[in-house]
Amino acid sequence: MKITVLTLFPEFFDRFVETSIIKRAIEQGHVEFSCVDYRQYTLDKHNHVDDTPCGGGAGMVLMCQPIIDCIKAVRDEHSLVVMMTPQGQKFTQQTAHSFAEIDHLILLCGHYEGFDERIRDYVDMEVSLGDFVLTGGEGAAMVISDAVIRLLNGVIQTQSHEDDSFENGLLEYPQYTRPIEYDGKKVPEVLLSGHHKKIATWRLKESLRKTLLQRPDLLENREFSKEEAVLLAEITQEKQKK
Ligand code: ADE
Repeated sequence: MKITVLTLFPEFFDRFVETSIIKRAIEQGHVEFSCVDYRQYTLDKHNHVDDTPCGGGAGMVLMCQPIIDCIKAVRDEHSLVVMMTPQGQKFTQQTAHSFAEIDHLILLCGHYEGFDERIRDYVDMEVSLGDFVLTGGEGAAMVISDAVIRLLNGVIQTQSHEDDSFENGLLEYPQYTRPIEYDGKKVPEVLLSGHHKKIATWRLKESLRKTLLQRPDLLENREFSKEEAVLLAEITQEKQKK
């Protein structure tokens, strides 16, 4: 797939593309990642891309001409144009999966007070990382690119993201590595047993326990399997005993 970030600050992404899994995904051809600077499209002799808000108020607003010309130049028949804004729909693991199916993802980063409202007519979708405000969309575009790239076939082992938090509607189970004992704290014995079924059951139970404790909202509309219902009952009993 191709990801193109439209931004006033392409340098923001310099280290992103040079580091770890993202670097390898680019080198191995799983993703083509590039940035385009809105300023390349300004027709203003001073390279302005923003202006003061109509009606007054603080800050600056990104202008129609350079932003819309930039979108028009970069988009193609296979692209999805996504605007980063705190007003968008919340980005989730499900959104990451749907973006990973797109041939060409175009991520629009805002800055200052945001975009001229008319720019929204050239956008397919608005996405927010959550109910907080960033200085610009670059951080959001980096987060979204990372979440999408790691889902592309061949970037990491499929097993590795199938077990991730949210993939089955639950938080991920606790993970351990050597040493078997550290500062008096031991790795749960079942994980050393080599018994795959018992390990899978323990992991499911601990996923349920963690989710119940830390994100009970994720369980609200869940249809529990028989095994999950039994494990949940055990967890509740164990809680009562404490
Ligand atoms: N730009 C500014 N705040 C943002 C947010 N919360 N999510 C996505 N883009 C943003």
